[in-house]
Amino acid sequence: MSQDLQKPTGERRKEIAKEVGHKCLVSRRNFLISTGVTTTIMITMNPGTPMAEEVPAQITEFPRKLIAKMSELELDKPFDFSYPDEGEHADSMIVKMGVKAGGGIGEGQDVVAFNYACTHQGGSLYDSYKPDTKSLGACPLHLSTYDLTRHGILISGQAYQSLPQVLLELDGDDIYATGIFGLIFGRKDNLHG
Ligand code: FES
Repeated sequence: MSQDLQKPTGERRKEIAKEVGHKCLVSRRNFLISTGVTTTIMITMNPGTPMAEEVPAQITEFPRKLIAKMSELELDKPFDFSYPDEGEHADSMIVKMGVKAGGGIGEGQDVVAFNYACTHQGGSLYDSYKPDTKSLGACPLHLSTYDLTRHGILISGQAYQSLPQVLLELDGDDIYATGIFGLIFGRKDNLHG
């Protein structure tokens, strides 16, 4: 297992931003490192269409929190946890998908974690994981569906921002959450409503 997967430091966060820009077919502009803790990038959703819109995405580090054991994860069976706190819209899930994913950890780079709150109007995506498409959704409110192999980018529906991805760190068998890529619905930042 490579060192950068175990230690998603500043370099790892930049790699994630690059993957979003190049693999997810969204353009990356105004790459700003504002504080050393929070990185803000501007991404364009629906590029090349009349609905193209530039929206902010953030990578924010938080204190490490032990959320799961790698050896206890079962293929395509999400495990739930709260992050970065126990507040509103903190419900999140981690899943081993069996296919390589952006930001994935583990030998297959197939373990990822995401917040459950739909970025459109906060509908809960709890219990909506689809093993066949490695997606979360459809949202019960307006049917948004998100691709968990590509940093939670929108597949279809009313939302226009990707699902916030929980950044993970592997330490032996322990999996820690260390930050969030994206903004949790209903919060001005990921720690305050
Ligand atoms: S709240 Fe999920 S699509 Fe509207």
